[in-house]
Amino acid sequence: MNALQRNDFYLLLLLYLYSINHTFGATDSTITATQFLKDGDKIASHSGSYEMGFFSPSVSENRYVGIWYKNISVRTVVWVANREAPLTGASGILKVIEPGILVLVNGTNSVMWSTNTSRSVQNPVAQLLDSGNLVVKQAGDDNLGNFLWQSFDHPSDTLLPGMKLGWNFVTGREVYLSSWKNEEDPAPGDYTYHCDPSGYPQNIVKKGSDVVYCSGPWNGLHFSGAISSRDSPLYTFGIFSSKTEVYFEFNLTSSVITRLTLSQNGALQRWTWGDHAQDWIPYLSIPTDNCDVYKLCGAYGSCNSQNSPVCGCLDKFVPKHNEDWQKADWSSGCVRRIELNCLQGDIFLKYSHMKLPDTRNSWSNVTMTLEECKTICSRNCSCMAYSNIDIRNGGSGCLLWFKDLLDIRQLSKEGQDIYIRIAACESDSLEKSDGKKRKVLFWILPLSVGLILVILSMLIFHRRRKKALQLKRKGRSGRNGNYKMDHSGNCEEEFEIPMFDLSTIMKATNNFSIDRKIGEGGFGPVYKGILEGREIAVKRLSRTSKQGEGEFKNEVLYVARLQHRNLVKILGCCSDGEEKMLIYEYLPNGSLDSFIFDDTQSKALDWPKRFHIINGIARGLMYLHQDSQLRIIHRDLKANNILLDKDMNPKISDFGLAKICEEDDIGAMTNRVVGTYGYLSPEYALHGKYSVKSDVFSFGILVLEIVSGKSNRKFSHPDHNLNLLGHAWKLYIQGRSIELLDECLGDSCSTSEVVRSISVGLLCVQQCPEDRLSMSSAVLMLNNEGVLPLAKQPGFYIEGNAPGGDFTPSQSAQITVSDTPITILAAR
Ligand SMILES: *[C@@H]1O[C@H](CO)[C@@H](O)[C@H](O)[C@H]1NC(C)=O
Ligand SMILES: *[C@@H]1O[C@H](CO)[C@@H](O)[C@H](O)[C@H]1NC(C)=O
Ligand SMILES: *[C@@H]1O[C@H](CO)[C@@H](O)[C@H](O)[C@H]1NC(C)=O
Ligand SMILES: *[C@@H]1O[C@H](CO)[C@@H](O)[C@H](O)[C@H]1NC(C)=O
Ligand SMILES: *[C@@H]1O[C@H](CO)[C@@H](O)[C@H](O)[C@H]1NC(C)=O
Ligand SMILES: *[C@@H]1O[C@H](CO)[C@@H](O)[C@H](O)[C@H]1NC(C)=O
Repeated sequence: MNALQRNDFYLLLLLYLYSINHTFGATDSTITATQFLKDGDKIASHSGSYEMGFFSPSVSENRYVGIWYKNISVRTVVWVANREAPLTGASGILKVIEPGILVLVNGTNSVMWSTNTSRSVQNPVAQLLDSGNLVVKQAGDDNLGNFLWQSFDHPSDTLLPGMKLGWNFVTGREVYLSSWKNEEDPAPGDYTYHCDPSGYPQNIVKKGSDVVYCSGPWNGLHFSGAISSRDSPLYTFGIFSSKTEVYFEFNLTSSVITRLTLSQNGALQRWTWGDHAQDWIPYLSIPTDNCDVYKLCGAYGSCNSQNSPVCGCLDKFVPKHNEDWQKADWSSGCVRRIELNCLQGDIFLKYSHMKLPDTRNSWSNVTMTLEECKTICSRNCSCMAYSNIDIRNGGSGCLLWFKDLLDIRQLSKEGQDIYIRIAACESDSLEKSDGKKRKVLFWILPLSVGLILVILSMLIFHRRRKKALQLKRKGRSGRNGNYKMDHSGNCEEEFEIPMFDLSTIMKATNNFSIDRKIGEGGFGPVYKGILEGREIAVKRLSRTSKQGEGEFKNEVLYVARLQHRNLVKILGCCSDGEEKMLIYEYLPNGSLDSFIFDDTQSKALDWPKRFHIINGIARGLMYLHQDSQLRIIHRDLKANNILLDKDMNPKISDFGLAKICEEDDIGAMTNRVVGTYGYLSPEYALHGKYSVKSDVFSFGILVLEIVSGKSNRKFSHPDHNLNLLGHAWKLYIQGRSIELLDECLGDSCSTSEVVRSISVGLLCVQQCPEDRLSMSSAVLMLNNEGVLPLAKQPGFYIEGNAPGGDFTPSQSAQITVSDTPITILAAR
């Protein structure tokens, strides 16, 4: 303010020195340092197009300094100096003072308004140029770049030809229009009009901080969505963008006088002066229709003013909230009919004649081709759509959208092509929908498939009933043994399971002799036996089970239907009073933990074998989670539960805690936390909340254990108190993942496979279930070279923040849960 006080002093001095009333002539366009403009005086631009002086808007008595058209019979103010500081009387004086500022003072010499500059010149003057631009400059210096100040940088509600609406990145200054409060008050009102460079440049109207209109991106000829702002014989317009500035401007190409204004209601209006009518004629006005209301139809909604109601969802999209949508509240928008699955490869569908979406979350490159554009977009899972930037000459440039697509409208002829990411499986319906032949196929195919399915299911149902009756009969007769084991191994019998009576099993296991015992799990001991010449493993469930015989058989039947080469095969069961047993294939190599955590045995598993095992477990788990008809959550995945066959193929065993679940049960709560310390996900251990993602967590730990040869539970490190997860994470963020590798593996390994496995492992043990991979993604990532997402910090990575003994480890069995049926089958 020091400068201003000093300026006040200068001003008083000058007023004193030049107290002679100076009158301005009709052709004066300049106020020099020896003159001042008082209320009633005017200056005009050189050619007489604009005039500046004092005025009162409408019926207001306040006085303002403004610029208006000189040669137009209707007083039309295009710029106001003291918008927010009206003069109350006719005593205002406008004056140029050193070092180069223009000030407006009232009758008692209070500064009402002033320009501002960081520079100073010897002989400052203010001049009204023929463009309507009021500039402060050194007298005689007409170089644009040397202006100390210009009114074009501080517009009111009017955009004049040659004015740049937008950003100067060097000075960090934005030039934007702001509406008048009302006809009598030129102070800034609710609305502003901007050229927004935050994504690919577009023009927006805001009410306060809310966007109310968005032009869509500039496509080389016009704005994508501004159907009314076509090429005009009267003016050219465009957005220009460089490293230092981004701006919108228009130039006149005829002698017709035209201006663009932002009304107090937020309407953008272009006016032309009608010599004949002697009045302003509206040339165009935005909003044109309801569809110009910003994001009226919400994300992925498409507005079509020809329709009633105007909002619809884009093809392949459905309303997010049907109820709201039906009540004509479209703000919640639409979602994909089929969710994206980026890792399995989405596709892009072309939508034509569209106003392109809001580009504030976009990325662009003006030289890329559409093909390059597609490649980039498909590589980044958060890229939702792409299009050309410039529609001239067949199209060029690349525009990518991230986040949801907003403010799309369907136009009838004009508009542009945009390619939107949709799920790959939508492609079937796409292909079939073009071409008449395909349309026929489209109907015939499902019909014939349907027919075959009906016939098949009838056959199966028939056979099932027969089998069920057989099973019942056998149960009664007690002669289950004559159901041949060899048969059960055949695929034909895959959904059925033989029942054995207790005496047969007792014989096979030598009366459960202690020397036949090969393990002891949470649910009872496991014995090796020989049945009909074949080695079997018998899991004898603990007697505390309260499960009834019927339920038990039922659930065994379910599990028997799970057939996968990475799951231990169930051969039969036995239920006799309190005795309940499961008969499994016998796997000679025992369990994974006896290899990887053992100094000598671990040498038997080189890296290719370990990688094979990791993959096998992943596939088996994926099958349980998604591919089987049942959706099973294992809930106790750990190294002891991975068995190895003679070729070291991994087989997941012990579905003792598996919950057979319908889709809706995912994410269910349980009061009883069961599982094994060291493998439990945080949300399960702490809140009893489990989902397939709890298994994914356990899988991640298993992967890290297999790679490192160290047990998460027993892990300790001399340098820190992190557990195996924390240790792996620490190495990972330092780019030293490979150091996690079990020393004994030496040269057997492929570094890229090891590092990839560790990354996948870490992506599986993320704190938030949503951040963890699905098993299908894990399988995909393990086997593909693509770039992996970055893992965040894992859950339970410090030894101390894992719960100690507050939950039930598998050592103390939880056999029944009456309200939530849990399939209790196996124990080691
Ligand atoms: C002023 O307007 C009249 C008619 O409206 C026109 O003939 C004349 O050329 C204009 N003069 C200037 C300087 O624009
Ligand atoms: C000039 O403005 C000051 C501050 O707003 C005010 O106090 C003073 O009364 C004004 N003088 C006249 C003559 O309007
Ligand atoms: C004058 O400009 C400087 C920098 O350009 C700015 O910091 C300052 O706030 C301005 N002052 C006024 C009164 O506009
Ligand atoms: C407007 O005119 C200026 C100066 O001649 C020119 O640089 C600019 O490209 C023109 N803009 C448009 C949109 O035609
Ligand atoms: C745009 O793409 C071209 C290749 O088509 C590339 O050479 C250029 O560096 C890219 N520019 C930017 C800013 O990414
Ligand atoms: C995808 O693009 C977004 C936005 O440009 C960027 O922040 C993110 O890192 C990209 N992701 C990948 C995996 O490249």
